[in-house]
Amino acid sequence: MEKLTGHKKIKTAVFISGTGSNLINIIKFSKTKRSPISINLIFSNMSKAKGLRYANQFKIKKKIFNFKNIEIAEMKMLTLLEKQKIKFICLAGFMRILSKRFIKKFDGKIINIHPSLLPKYKGLNTHDRAIKNKDKFAGCTVHYVTEKLDSGKIILQKKIKITAKDNSVSLAKKVLKHEHKLYPAAIKKIFN
Ligand code: GRF
Repeated sequence: MEKLTGHKKIKTAVFISGTGSNLINIIKFSKTKRSPISINLIFSNMSKAKGLRYANQFKIKKKIFNFKNIEIAEMKMLTLLEKQKIKFICLAGFMRILSKRFIKKFDGKIINIHPSLLPKYKGLNTHDRAIKNKDKFAGCTVHYVTEKLDSGKIILQKKIKITAKDNSVSLAKKVLKHEHKLYPAAIKKIFN
């Protein structure tokens, strides 16, 4: 990954679909001196994604794309990413799978956070599955995005104990708190 030169931060887009707690956390991190990235664009496939409010709050350009036709959506996204000179993409609760073609254009420059100890529990309902399997540990992973779902190289991972009291809701909450620390740490690790 390219190193930082001077004081210029790497222009980054965040893709979301929902609440955006990781998004707000990444935005706050991006405003600190130690952040190698700035957030310049927010994409959502959901017009009602709560996280979009942070685009307004922080005056960051936002755009909603309808993924019913993924080819058209991605073409428009790529055009805008190029226009805005975006060099890096963070997926943060983005619930659509990007095409091979799209990923190739940003090869090695898209990362994602996943709420499990990958390679365990790729895909959805990770906490449910961990509880049902009586796992002792859950966790979260920041990884590079490749065309194979949740399978790219791991950048950082955090292991979190599952207690007897935990259910999938309490576990999700607990893991999410750690996600908020892990994502900025992974971004720093990539560029520094
Ligand atoms: C997080 O648990 C993330 O790991 C998963 O979706 C959730 C998004 O939460 N991919 P938020 O929208 O960042 O609050």
